[in-house]
Amino acid sequence: MQEIIRQLDEKRARAREGGGQKRTERQHAKGKLTARERIQLLVDEDSFEEWDMFVEHRCHDFGMDQQRIPGDGVVTGHGTINGRLVFVFSQDFTVFGGALSEAHADKIVKVMDKAMEVGAPVIGLNDSGGARIQEGVESLAGYAKVFERNVDASGVVPQLSLIMGPCAGGAVYSPAMTDFIFMVKDSSYMFVTGPEVVKTVTHEEVTAEELGGAISHTSRSGVADLAFDNDVEALQLTRRFFDFLPESNLQDPPVRPTPDDPNREEPSLDTLVPASPNKPYDMKELIEKVVDEKDFFEIQPDFAKNIIVGLARMEGRTVGIVANQPMVLAGCLDIDSSRKAARFVRFCDCFNIPLVTFVDVPGFLPGTTQEYGGIIKHGAKLLYAFTEATVPKVTVITRKAYGGAYDVMSSKHLRGDVNYAWPSAEIAVMGPKGAAEIIFREDAKDPDKLEQRAEEYRTKFANPFVAASRGFLDDVIMPHGTRRRLCKSLAMLRNKQQQTPWKKHSNIPL
Ligand code: HXC
Repeated sequence: MQEIIRQLDEKRARAREGGGQKRTERQHAKGKLTARERIQLLVDEDSFEEWDMFVEHRCHDFGMDQQRIPGDGVVTGHGTINGRLVFVFSQDFTVFGGALSEAHADKIVKVMDKAMEVGAPVIGLNDSGGARIQEGVESLAGYAKVFERNVDASGVVPQLSLIMGPCAGGAVYSPAMTDFIFMVKDSSYMFVTGPEVVKTVTHEEVTAEELGGAISHTSRSGVADLAFDNDVEALQLTRRFFDFLPESNLQDPPVRPTPDDPNREEPSLDTLVPASPNKPYDMKELIEKVVDEKDFFEIQPDFAKNIIVGLARMEGRTVGIVANQPMVLAGCLDIDSSRKAARFVRFCDCFNIPLVTFVDVPGFLPGTTQEYGGIIKHGAKLLYAFTEATVPKVTVITRKAYGGAYDVMSSKHLRGDVNYAWPSAEIAVMGPKGAAEIIFREDAKDPDKLEQRAEEYRTKFANPFVAASRGFLDDVIMPHGTRRRLCKSLAMLRNKQQQTPWKKHSNIPL
C-alpha cells in the first residue's frame, strides 16, 4: 500500500511537471502561462477537480514508447466560476507541443460528454501544434471525435474557446464551432494553412501574426470575438463573460441583484438623436445609459462596427443587445454586420437570453462588392435569425427604419413582442429624397421641386405615427423613459412560450 501511495505521489508530481522546467521557462519567456497556471486563474480557488491525470498516449512509433508524460499534453476537469460549474480542458504546450493524440482527444471528449450530461459550459484553452504527427490517422480520428461533440453540444451548453498559442490546420475547426473565440494578442494565431504554405501556393509573404493573429481575426475575418493583451486579461474577462451565461439551454441565465433602479430616467437621451437626419450619434451611449450599471459586454467590437452586439443586464437578468451604429456606414446593414448579428441572435435564442434591439438603419449597403459577396444570402441570415428566435424580443426604433432593413431588425412583423419607437423615428420604404426621385421622376429634374416632394414624403413618413396607427408599433415612448419601458416589457415577457412547427432542423441560408 505504501508503495502504491508513493507511486501515486510520484505520478502526480510527474504530471504536474508537464514538459519539464526548461520547456516551462520557454513558455513563460513567450509571455504565456502554462496549462495549469491558466486553469488556476480561470476557475475559483481550490475548485478544480482534475481528471485523467494518469492518461498516457498509446503510440509506439518514432521512439514515442520512450516518451510518456502522464496527462498527455492536456489538463482536463471541472471547477466553478463564481460558484457555477464549468468543464475545462487546457492544452499543455510543454508536452509534445500540446499536440493532439488519440488519448489527448479522449480526455477532451470525456469532459465534453459529462458537461452535456449535467448541463454545464465547456471552456477550451487551446495551445497546440495540432495533430500529433507521430500518431497519424489516430490523431485525426481524435479531432473528429471532438468535432462531433462540438456539434452535439452546440445549443445545449455554451462552449467558449480561448486561443492562447498556435491553432492551425484542421484544428481550427473545433473552436470555429464553439460559441465564442477569444484570442491573445501576439502569442496566438489561427489559420488553416500557415505562412510557408501560403508562400508556396500563392507567393504571398505574410507573417503568422498578420495571417491569423488576434488583431486579424477580430478586425478583418470576424473569426474571433475578442482580442486580449495577455493570458491574465483573457482569463479574467472570460470569468466576467461567463457570469452572463446560463449553464445550459435548459436553464435561465443567472440573476445578479442590482442597485440600479429599473425606473431610472435618462433625460440626456432626449437630445441624443441630432435634429439633422444625416448627422450620426453614438448608439453605444444609448446602450450604456439603459442597461444595469452601464455594464455592457460588447462582442466583436472591432469587426463590422456598423452593428453593435453584446451582453448586458436589465433588472439583473442577462439580455442580448443588437443595435445599428449610425457612426459607421450610417448604420447600414452589409454582409459582415448581418453575419455578425445573425450568429449572435442565434446564440441568445439557444440559451434563453432575451433580445433588445435598437434600430437606426437606412437600409442595406449598395454596391457590387456587396452583391457579388452574396448580401442576399447573408442579409437573409439576420432576417432568419430574428424570425426563428422565440426568446422575448423588444425593439426600439430611435430614428431611421427604412426598407427591408426595417423588417429585418426585429420588427413586429417578425414576431417582435414589444416594438417601441422614439418620436424621432422615421419608418418608410426609403429616405425621403430617394423616394421623391422615384415616384416624382418629372419633378426630380428641378432641385426645388424635388426638395418640395421630398418634404411631402418626409412629412408623411418621417414620424412614427403611420406605423403606430397600424399597430406595427406598440407605443411611441420618450427616450428618457426607455430603461423603464424595456424593464417592464422584459418582466412581462419573462414566461413567454412560443411554439414552432415540428421540423428535423431548419435550413438557414448559409
Ligand atoms: C508532435 C509536436 C507537434 C506536433 C510541435 N511538436 N508540434 N509534436 N506533433 N504536431 C513538438 C515539437 O517537436 C517540440 O518538441 C515541441 O512540440 C515544441 O515545438 P517547437 O517547434 O519547438 O515550438 P515552436 O518553435 O514554438 O513552434 C511551434 C509550432 C511548430 C509552430 C506549432 O512546432 C510546428 O510547426 N509544429 C507542427 C505543426 C503542424 O504541422 N501540425 C500538424 C498540422 S495539421 P520538443 O520535444 O523539442 O520540445 C493538423 C491537422 C488537424 O493539425 C486535422 C484535424 C482534422
